[in-house]
Amino acid sequence: MDDSRPALAVGDIDPELFRREARRMIDWITENLRDGGRRYPVLSRVEPGEVAGRLPGHAPEQPEDLERIWADFQEIVLPGVTHWNHAGFMAYFGITGSGPGILGELLSAALNVNGMLWRTCPSATELELVVLGWLRDALGLPPKLFGFLTDTASIGSMLAIAAAREQAGLDIRNRGMCGRDDLPRLRVYASDQAHSSVAKACIALGLGLEGYRTIPHDELYRMDPEALERAIAGDRAAGVRPLAVVATVGTTSTTSVDPVPVIAGICRREGLWLHVDAAYAGTAAICPEHRWCLDGCEHADSFVFNPHKWLFTPIDASAIYTRHPEVFKKAFSLVPEYLTTPVADQVVDLMDYGVQLGRRFRALKLWWVLRAFGLEGIRQHLRRHMELARDFAGWVDDDPRLERAAPVPFSVVCFRARDAGATAEDRDRYNLALMERINATGEVYLSHTRLDGGIALRVAIGNLHTTEHDVMRLQAIIEEELGCPAGH
Ligand SMILES: Cc1ncc(COP(=O)(O)O)c(C=O)c1O
Repeated sequence: MDDSRPALAVGDIDPELFRREARRMIDWITENLRDGGRRYPVLSRVEPGEVAGRLPGHAPEQPEDLERIWADFQEIVLPGVTHWNHAGFMAYFGITGSGPGILGELLSAALNVNGMLWRTCPSATELELVVLGWLRDALGLPPKLFGFLTDTASIGSMLAIAAAREQAGLDIRNRGMCGRDDLPRLRVYASDQAHSSVAKACIALGLGLEGYRTIPHDELYRMDPEALERAIAGDRAAGVRPLAVVATVGTTSTTSVDPVPVIAGICRREGLWLHVDAAYAGTAAICPEHRWCLDGCEHADSFVFNPHKWLFTPIDASAIYTRHPEVFKKAFSLVPEYLTTPVADQVVDLMDYGVQLGRRFRALKLWWVLRAFGLEGIRQHLRRHMELARDFAGWVDDDPRLERAAPVPFSVVCFRARDAGATAEDRDRYNLALMERINATGEVYLSHTRLDGGIALRVAIGNLHTTEHDVMRLQAIIEEELGCPAGH
């Protein structure tokens, strides 16, 4: 033993030090929740590389003071944070790390369990299955659906397509896809408005981008089911084997809803797996008057939606439901000796249903959110968000300088400045510049998309802190910025 080395204390940091730092942090979080993040610019203003440039190139050799770490968080890290928990965050999809969700997340980190097996934390597995049952019922989905949590909808959709591939009986689990002359080209279909995660799933699963076919949309950005039927028939005639259809409830650009009942009929007739991606809009079905958006989903083989989008749960938490848990298990279960347990045949081991072994205790934050708000509390917020979106859409409709670019079924409004240049490129450029000027105020953050009429700006209302005042302020900012000449 080298006596010149300082003796290491046994255990973690001093508990009283922990308590002091935790209180400081909780105080900061509390103030952030109190003012809806408004004390910070919503969109970070740092330049690329600025944060990294202020950080040392090496980890410290010696322990550092927690106070110093906190100070650096404030001075170096915070300026580089884009505040998704800000009342003015209206980009992509508005989300919320709510107070109850933060509490659940805190406990989850403190317990630090790995719920890979039932035995490695019975509560992690059982709470997850029960809470997912609550959510399934709250959405009006069939009671027989089996649900579990993943990190993201991207992974949920990838697992679903892997299950569809397993269901096709091509023995890909054992034999793989390479070097086989008995394997036809496989095809997955989704609308051209579907999220890029579907294409990525095809890349990851070896179907390739050529194994993914997009179907055109109608005038309301919904999948055209007749075009889907034609694509399937054409593929069959060409020797391609259709595998699955991904329908979207709440597309990323406009939140349009694919005609799932018709698509489900096609899948039934053609013997195809139907996966529904309701990552954002699925939450709306908690309100009975919006249940229509899940019409036909009772026929889906798998269904994904994200509590971390509009259900006030800190990222990450995505729910996947299926009528065929045994197919997921067939696709993914692989139990080496060191993961066997004496109770395996009496319990659900959630590691069996996907790729990852380690599993966070995600159900805890969801449980906290559902109990602290109650379904009725959640409904009130969802309705408030949809009303704010409708009001904003009405304001756009009344302003002759603006045009609405898509219907507003939920809480996202797509719009653009009209007559903003002689050519389509000029109009796109003007609208993108308009968005940059709006975002530079630091009060709101909008994102954009490309629709049939060109670039559109999106106002996505979904943060718990967003109020009528924030939307009015957005309108005032747009008014001011519309006065500026193009290119400024
Ligand atoms: C319709 C849809 N599906 C999937 C995703 C991907 O979600 P995640 O980040 O959970 O993978 C998104 C993200 O916005 C989405 O809008």
